[in-house]
Amino acid sequence: MRSALLHCCFALSALSGLLSLGTGGKVFRQIKEQVRWSQELRARKHLQLYGVGGRPLVPGGPWPKAETLWQPLDHFNRQNNLTFPQRFFVNDGFWNPQGPVFLFIGGESSISEYSVLSGHHVEMAQRYNALVVALEHRYYGASINPDGLSQENIRFLSSQQALTDLSSFHLYITQRFNLTRNNTWLCFGGSYPGSLSAWFRLKFPHLVFAAVASSAPVRAQLDFTGYNKVVAESLSNPVVGGSDKCLQAVSAGFHAVDDKLKAGNLSELQKDFLCCGSLDLAEDQSELVSNLADIFMGTVQYNRETAGYDIAAVCNLMAGGGEGESSYTRLTHVLKDYLARMALSCLDSSFQNSLAELQDTQINPVGVGERQWVYQTCTEFGYYQTCEDPRCPFSPLLSLRSQLQLCSQVFGISPPSVESAVTFTNEFYGADHPKSSRILFVNGDIDPWHALGVLKDRSRSERAILINGTAHCADMNPTQPQDPPSLTLARQQINKQVGDWLEAARKEFS
Ligand SMILES: *[C@@H]1O[C@H](CO)[C@@H](O)[C@H](O)[C@H]1NC(C)=O
Ligand SMILES: *[C@@H]1O[C@H](CO)[C@@H](O)[C@H](O)[C@H]1NC(C)=O
Ligand SMILES: *[C@@H]1O[C@H](CO)[C@@H](O)[C@H](O)[C@H]1NC(C)=O
Ligand SMILES: *[C@@H]1O[C@H](CO)[C@@H](O)[C@H](O)[C@H]1NC(C)=O
Ligand SMILES: *[C@@H]1O[C@H](CO)[C@@H](O)[C@H](O)[C@H]1NC(C)=O
Repeated sequence: MRSALLHCCFALSALSGLLSLGTGGKVFRQIKEQVRWSQELRARKHLQLYGVGGRPLVPGGPWPKAETLWQPLDHFNRQNNLTFPQRFFVNDGFWNPQGPVFLFIGGESSISEYSVLSGHHVEMAQRYNALVVALEHRYYGASINPDGLSQENIRFLSSQQALTDLSSFHLYITQRFNLTRNNTWLCFGGSYPGSLSAWFRLKFPHLVFAAVASSAPVRAQLDFTGYNKVVAESLSNPVVGGSDKCLQAVSAGFHAVDDKLKAGNLSELQKDFLCCGSLDLAEDQSELVSNLADIFMGTVQYNRETAGYDIAAVCNLMAGGGEGESSYTRLTHVLKDYLARMALSCLDSSFQNSLAELQDTQINPVGVGERQWVYQTCTEFGYYQTCEDPRCPFSPLLSLRSQLQLCSQVFGISPPSVESAVTFTNEFYGADHPKSSRILFVNGDIDPWHALGVLKDRSRSERAILINGTAHCADMNPTQPQDPPSLTLARQQINKQVGDWLEAARKEFS
């Protein structure tokens, strides 16, 4: 079973809240969390080495603290006087009072101080003397009422409410820092917050002068078959260590698993893939193949984000070395390698366990909000990463039907209702033809989510950059010595665009 795994990235997007996107099973969720932590670790190390804006970090020195803004729970009904605490961070270390404001938008996971301390937007903030502010998304992280995740209360979770939170945050920051029209606002986000970044500019052009939207799947889609089409292309892409042989081996390995499922060789599968429990129930068989597919999807989506998690390594296991072993056996090696890295002794393929996690209304102030994100896929975006297309290398048990069932099982939302919600979202925001202005869409061609993004210039001011060989939200990470030239070039282009926008704003307002 999978619930969209979006989740970006970023350094902190990770750290900061942009990691995610994805409809994934349990394994995908584990990978997301691990990417998050490794990004946070990297940001921490980077800050220790280089400090913030060239100033070394002194223990006990100034460090952005979590702050709270109380917001209406329902912006669209002023009779409802309920509120919720929304977490945000401010870094005014680079700012001069005439300078711009860089708004970093949180998404489907918690944010932290790293959202205003690390990442490409922070490097640019230093260059342009910007005030950096970051707002956590409602219902994620700590930005939620104690009773907020129950079926009854989760209904005020939507991208429309989130954009309106951004507008009232804009007002709050404007008043607190005595901002004028001379303080030009730009917004940044990656993954789902990348879409929010584009949509904030689209719907509130008087509040934000321009937007950078990284890895933004702005086109909602119920049956996102394109996701695994890109996964297959990336597994065979030599630029990132893939090969046709690798893709064929993955495909053959999954076929062998499907054959054993059909033949009823369940105890063999259970043993070979170190399953924690039996595979007698059909739903647990689907959960197994879904978890196996997650390893490949997660590896592609987050290629090179964490050590050991890259396409080259997984393709080496599937297709490297001699011809001795079958693709099936190699697939078991990939799984064992994954379990070892996660320090797990067996693979939990119980659908009921997975369902129970999504039904859990307990709030976790740190991490990815999986229940909330599934709710948003059911009520706004779909994004179900299915495998029913014959070119998909995994198992057709990853079906649209099983994904939609999850919306009914967890939230009582029917399939036709999910379908019409997705149609409405595209109508409301304009899908990949938003008809806005001053938006830069940045995508990586390895990233499966680019299939729902804007990849070509739509007009003179709605521009697109497609980076050769990078995965989800790579452009948002802080600059690293090992960055490929295509990524370095893309960051230079983003930087130049930001500089041009700020110059245009100066001309417009002076
Ligand atoms: C909020 O609304 C409820 C019901 O309309 C009302 O009883 C209550 O007094 C209001 N609370 C505040 C603080 O205004
Ligand atoms: C904003 O203006 C008020 C009143 O002039 C002043 O007291 C306050 O210090 C200013 N705040 C900032 C952040 O400049
Ligand atoms: C199922 O297991 C039996 C006995 O272990 C074996 O002979 C048969 O080839 C297996 N079938 C598949 C499809 O692996
Ligand atoms: C991406 O870069 C590689 C070299 O690293 C090149 O061979 C390939 O043609 C490029 N792909 C595209 C789509 O430009
Ligand atoms: C904005 O900047 C212009 C040019 O620097 C200056 O003349 C004007 O007074 C500024 N406006 C405000 C409200 O600070």
